[in-house]
Amino acid sequence: MKQFYFEESVERLIRISKEKPLLPETYVPWADEPKDDTLFMPEKLVSLEGHPLWHKLSREQQIELGRLEVVQVMYSYAWSETLACYFFQRHLLGLDPDSVEYRFLLREIIEESRHQEMFGMAIRKLDRKPVKPTGLHRLFAYLTVRWFPDSWMFISVLAIEHMADTYAHHMRRDPGVFSVIRKCSQLHHIEEGRHIQYAEWWLKRFTDSAGFFKITILSLITLANIIFMRSFYVQRAFFKELGTGDSDTLYRAARTHYRKKFAGLAAEESVRFVNSFRGFNFITRPLWNFFLLNPSASNQNPK
Ligand SMILES: [Fe+2]
Ligand SMILES: [Fe+2]
Repeated sequence: MKQFYFEESVERLIRISKEKPLLPETYVPWADEPKDDTLFMPEKLVSLEGHPLWHKLSREQQIELGRLEVVQVMYSYAWSETLACYFFQRHLLGLDPDSVEYRFLLREIIEESRHQEMFGMAIRKLDRKPVKPTGLHRLFAYLTVRWFPDSWMFISVLAIEHMADTYAHHMRRDPGVFSVIRKCSQLHHIEEGRHIQYAEWWLKRFTDSAGFFKITILSLITLANIIFMRSFYVQRAFFKELGTGDSDTLYRAARTHYRKKFAGLAAEESVRFVNSFRGFNFITRPLWNFFLLNPSASNQNPK
């Protein structure tokens, strides 16, 4: 891709961001209230859905599990966006303030800051508490945003944006889902589209000339980020809160079941992007298949 075209295209993204800002405080119908049968997340995204034990839960418990898990999803995105902004600020230190890259990343930081505020407002609206990242999660996050090279960080941010966007896609289209969640997802989907486009362009300039070793590393970093985010979603504490007698059995079943169905729900865009830079090779393909694209549960095996 020629430099001229990259700059022209990014200028267009900056223009849209400035001319069509989406403000969570007015875009989302915060005064709406859920009814007794309102869902908080599409059922297919709830960890235990599709497992035989799902029907051991009452309808109220099924809806409550979706409420707890969507709070966890929104918390994990807000946290990962804080980390992304930390990296962007680090990256800006080496750029000129009048360069196209600097000006776009400032718009991205502005939008990501609004997203973090929006997710926080939605969590307060749903009135449930998320489970915080473990010490290991925090250590891994700190080391990466502090020390990872730029290309490794851009592909980490992109991997999480692809996942968040696929989730938003499912949530905004399900009419049974609470209007506040649907509109948050819609806003996020529109703005993340620009961030994803930018990160893919930025990385394409890098991957076009990258050799086997760099390509392999980028593919594995994408995989590691997806596994990292997936490890947040299913929480033992939520099954205890449901008040069922056998919460440990339900938790273990949900965790295993969710791992099997996760690739089909959230990994499609990452697989497409990794394919686009020839990121599946004899080293990476078995690892992707083993850790994420379990053949028994997904038809997304990389070719
Ligand atoms: Fe975002
Ligand atoms: Fe983003």
